[in-house]
Amino acid sequence: MREKKRKMLAGAAALALCWAVSGPNLMDNAWATDAGEAKAQAQSTSDLVRKGQVLFAENCVACHQEEGVGKAGVAPSITNKELLRIASDQFLFETIRDGRVDTPMPAFGEVLASKDDIHALVAYLKSFRTGPDLSKDIEADHISMGDPRLGKRWFEQVCAGCHGPRGEGYAGEGSGTAIGKPGFLGKASDGFIRYIVKNGRSNTAMRGFSGSYGLANLSDGEIDDIISYLRILE
Ligand code: HEC
Ligand code: HEC
Repeated sequence: MREKKRKMLAGAAALALCWAVSGPNLMDNAWATDAGEAKAQAQSTSDLVRKGQVLFAENCVACHQEEGVGKAGVAPSITNKELLRIASDQFLFETIRDGRVDTPMPAFGEVLASKDDIHALVAYLKSFRTGPDLSKDIEADHISMGDPRLGKRWFEQVCAGCHGPRGEGYAGEGSGTAIGKPGFLGKASDGFIRYIVKNGRSNTAMRGFSGSYGLANLSDGEIDDIISYLRILE
């Protein structure tokens, strides 16, 4: 029985090989179509990026600055290396659409002409990404099971000075964003927060909190305590 199956499989493999060898024209055409599609896609992506660049200049540059580098106390960097590695298209899209209530970040869903405009802005921001897209792994990272009471203590000692006593952000006279408000917490996964706390954000006051080069050397457990505390603020 097994022998027969193996022979059948071998036969099928030989047939497939024959088909591949005898059908070069078919293969060529398939490649040509793929290449054509890839070219058309690249073209439409660069059109989208160009459109996003124009919309950015009209709507965002006053706060987020040229090329989205940000300005302390005014608006964060949105072309930042770490942010763009972990932010999903959905995170960026919804943040632009809904803005961040209780912060200066407006809801552009009410301002821009259409959803396509937001897609173009996302494409423009993503065009600054260097390195791998980690957004799927970040999304799938574990849910924090830390102790919020301890997290409150770490937060007040280490984070509140920049992010405000309860994560109010600039409204709390801080240089950091409103990480205790629903505008951020409703869209950021635990993996997203964890990654930024560990790795920081290059060229901003937000340095990493892990390892001896960090602003403070927080353990994984302590970072999870802080995330669990932020979740009860939400
Ligand atoms: C009036 C100033 C202002 C304008 C205009 C503005 N933003 Fe913002 N934006 C902010 C502030 C302030 C924050 C941070 C809010 C907080 O504390 O959470 C922010 C946050 C963001 C974030 C989240 C960044 C992060 O670090 O998680 C994105 C993405 C963003 N803005 C995109 C845009 C885009 C795209 C535009 C233009 C369509 C725009 N913003 C226009 C002030 C502004
Ligand atoms: C020295 C000031 C400072 C300290 C201390 C600090 N942060 Fe930040 N943090 C910032 C700034 C500034 C930003 C925004 C960076 C930018 O401009 O892109 C930020 C951004 C963040 C973000 C991304 C928020 C967003 O809008 O996407 C998270 C999450 C964060 N910090 C968590 C923390 C936690 C948790 C602590 C304490 C363990 C902490 N930070 C301590 C200054 C600080």
